[in-house]
Amino acid sequence: MLKTTVAGIELEHPIFNAAGPLDATLEELTVLGESHAAAITMKSCTLEAREGNPEPRYQDIPHGSLNSMGLPNLGYKKYIAFAPLLKKYNKPIIASVSGLSLEDNLTIIQALNDAPVDLIEFNLSCPNVIGKPQMGYDPEQTDDVLGKIMHITKKPLGVKLPPYFDFVHFEQIAAILNRNNVRFVTCINAIGNALVIDPEKEQVIIRPKNGFGGLGGAYVKPTALANVRKFSELLNPTIDIVGVGGISSGTDVFEFILAGATAVQIGTTFMKEKHGCFERIEREFNELMAKKGYETIEDVKGNLKTL
Ligand code: SIN
Repeated sequence: MLKTTVAGIELEHPIFNAAGPLDATLEELTVLGESHAAAITMKSCTLEAREGNPEPRYQDIPHGSLNSMGLPNLGYKKYIAFAPLLKKYNKPIIASVSGLSLEDNLTIIQALNDAPVDLIEFNLSCPNVIGKPQMGYDPEQTDDVLGKIMHITKKPLGVKLPPYFDFVHFEQIAAILNRNNVRFVTCINAIGNALVIDPEKEQVIIRPKNGFGGLGGAYVKPTALANVRKFSELLNPTIDIVGVGGISSGTDVFEFILAGATAVQIGTTFMKEKHGCFERIEREFNELMAKKGYETIEDVKGNLKTL
């Protein structure tokens, strides 16, 4: 196994679950603990429990998925209570925080200071809460909120970013992340507000937001790679990058590490294939690394060649 680290926390190998699929209940988190995933990421939590958006709210589509879950979760206190129960799996536990206001986020982050979680992923990028814009697209708010949150957290805290598409926006956000000394970034969240149409039924395929939802899976991999690459060029070298978006094979993992990631998360493929995907993808990645003669993640990380 090829060890790696995220914000100083050691992982047995670089592959684990993305916040979102199959990680909201203790039963699901227990299965993740027993699986080959290198860490346990818990569902993005809010102050109070949420039912989420009306069904149908997740659909598999030919090369990925469309979702508008709307942050269904049990509320942060439950995830704080689950963390000690998951310690026995001897892998890092990642709390994902997605409070609906600054006050909620400060309350949750403060409470996590005393919880046995190893990393906090602060979600700046859920596209599915009706009436709430993605904070990561508002640089001023991101700067303000991060300043306050970094001030109170005692845990290594990173941010989950939405995809960016313009170099000026990458530069703005990277400057904010550098200034606030975040410990890692996870990119990308789903591409927000995509629309998929069923031509037979002449209808959208999910109910919330009249069919608009977050696009995941192979459709988003080139965008995810571009975000990992650009942030690896712009962020302080002390800030680790976790890649996510369309990873379904060992070769995909290799590409994300070449682009500059130290670890990767699996979302849509995990939802489709369930827990066996971690072992398969890690095996494929190890075989590729051995074939290419690389012995460590550092041998590959960021070494993408240009023409
Ligand atoms: C959701 O629950 O709507 C997905 C979470 C996210 O995209 O951050």
